[in-house]
Amino acid sequence: MKRALVITNAYSSLASAVYQSARLKEEFSKLGVQTDVLKNGGRPLAVNGGVECGYGGYDFCVYLDKDKYAARMLESSGMRLFNRAAAIEVCDDKMLTHIALAGAVAMPETLPSTLCYTPDSVPDAAYLDGVEKRLGYPLVVKESYGSLGRGVYRADDRASLDALAGRLIGTPHLYQKFISESAGRDVRVIVIGGECVAAMERRSECDFRSNIELGGKGSPHTADAEMRHICGAISEKLNLDYCGVDLLEGKDGYLVCEVNSNAFFGGIEKVTGVNVAREYARYACGKIYG
Ligand SMILES: Nc1ncnc2c1ncn2[C@@H]1O[C@H](COP(=O)(O)OP(=O)(O)O)[C@@H](O)[C@H]1O
Ligand SMILES: [Mg+2]
Repeated sequence: MKRALVITNAYSSLASAVYQSARLKEEFSKLGVQTDVLKNGGRPLAVNGGVECGYGGYDFCVYLDKDKYAARMLESSGMRLFNRAAAIEVCDDKMLTHIALAGAVAMPETLPSTLCYTPDSVPDAAYLDGVEKRLGYPLVVKESYGSLGRGVYRADDRASLDALAGRLIGTPHLYQKFISESAGRDVRVIVIGGECVAAMERRSECDFRSNIELGGKGSPHTADAEMRHICGAISEKLNLDYCGVDLLEGKDGYLVCEVNSNAFFGGIEKVTGVNVAREYARYACGKIYG
């Protein structure tokens, strides 16, 4: 019997996450694959001489969590993960994603924050002098680990840059050129096995961040040749099976804003009518069963 495992986060019961696993189970079942959806922590994983794994009997796992330890342990026990643990780790950290993609695709100019061990420290003024000199205002400040637009801010002047840098001093973050041509607008592309399977434009009238969760509205979009090329290059470079790519439109073409290894597909399925779950299930089955 063909058997798949879907792992979800131990604590999150967000409707979009529940939808994601239920849809995958449904589509796998149509392909004759019996699927268990389990929360991370549902079976034991332990290090005891080797890695002990309580998840035996599955042909593969669609890993919808971002827990890097469980992902690594599952892989050590021989499980094929969609996405692979290393790919999830790089995408989870926006600065690591930028470093990994540097030179491969165009991205907004980006500088990291410097690591601070003591959260009661004050920001390094000389470093911020360099940031404002390179990027100008407004500029974007982003928490390295963040999603749904929540950790993305705009600094319009030195006072707001100082305030943000102070507030985030104990939190890894980055500084980025503001792409004014794309304010309140981006294109979200779902990429499976290097192919663009669905794209939507997101536009917000009330915020420079176009995330749907913050009021952005999605409309169907057609992936063009440049987009396909960029998304293929990202998938190859980061060894991704599945991802959502956010593209900004600069004056000289697309700029990669972020790569989300765990992108929710419910919204884009509704907007575009594309059955993303079926595409992902077919892709995973093709990889495992040929
Ligand atoms: N450098 C930038 N210039 C202009 N807009 C940006 C920039 N970076 C992010 N945005 C806007 O903010 C949104 C959220 O940023 P993103 O990096 O995708 O973080 P998240 O993971 O929270 O979605 C993007 O979809 C885009 O609309
Ligand atoms: Mg995003």
